[in-house]
Amino acid sequence: MTLSLALLLWMFLGTQGFNTQHVIEPQPNFDLDKFAGEWYRIGLADESPLFAMFKNQLKASRGLLVPDANGNVNLTMWTLRPYGCSISVYSYEKTDVPGEFTYFSKRHKITKDITIVETNYTDYSLVLKYKNMNTEYTQVALYGRSSIQRPDLIEKFRSFALSLGFSEEAIVTPADIDPCPILEPRNTAEIREEKSSQSPNQSVFGTENLSKV
Ligand SMILES: *[C@@H]1O[C@H](CO)[C@@H](O)[C@H](O)[C@H]1NC(C)=O
Ligand SMILES: *[C@@H]1O[C@H](CO)[C@@H](O)[C@H](O)[C@H]1NC(C)=O
Ligand SMILES: *[C@@H]1O[C@H](CO)[C@@H](O)[C@H](O)[C@H]1NC(C)=O
Ligand SMILES: *[C@@H]1O[C@H](CO)[C@@H](O)[C@H](O)[C@H]1NC(C)=O
Repeated sequence: MTLSLALLLWMFLGTQGFNTQHVIEPQPNFDLDKFAGEWYRIGLADESPLFAMFKNQLKASRGLLVPDANGNVNLTMWTLRPYGCSISVYSYEKTDVPGEFTYFSKRHKITKDITIVETNYTDYSLVLKYKNMNTEYTQVALYGRSSIQRPDLIEKFRSFALSLGFSEEAIVTPADIDPCPILEPRNTAEIREEKSSQSPNQSVFGTENLSKV
């Protein structure tokens, strides 16, 4: 098999099943300042074999999105691992199109695009990664301002993912919430101090349980 034929075959297999005709535009009049802050990833659609292996362990995880003055953003996500909480920081660079960003994927060693397809800022957002539609790279995520599973949001997410050609099995809306970041009991005193100097609603996730520690 020639190299170009192999490449063609690979490209075909990579997009198989996906609706590549779909034109995906970002949220009109995207407003980054309103979009910033805390989000929970409460749904994920991913057609890759790796995701299929681990999807049952997926939890709704917390993220914090912080823009800088230039319009680039950092997204920090927390995930519980066997050895404790891990933090991942993703740096998304703005593009000429508001609501579209790019970043370099260390895992796949390619630059990927991120599109905020739809958001109403106060409740939910639908985010597409890699809009060229590829079974290895493309993901759709549902983010909620709260970790609570809302049937209307889940339905919106599912129908969007299905319209792009994701299979039912590739769409996951985990019921469990990732407990990270977890506050270590030995740090309680420090955290109490920190907490008292913060406005009440900036307190870190989980402080409700400190009184019981
Ligand atoms: C984003 O992260 C980079 C690298 O860690 C850092 O240099 C930059 O200051 C961060 N920007 C914001 C807005 O936090
Ligand atoms: C955002 O969307 C949710 C879910 O559709 C809805 O309940 C809420 O009222 C919306 N908020 C705004 C400000 O439009
Ligand atoms: C803090 O959150 C509570 C609900 O959890 C809300 O009633 C209150 O208005 C919020 N305060 C501020 C300063 O946002
Ligand atoms: C508080 O603790 C209970 C059980 O101890 C747990 O189910 C709940 O998720 C915790 N809440 C937070 C916000 O960590």
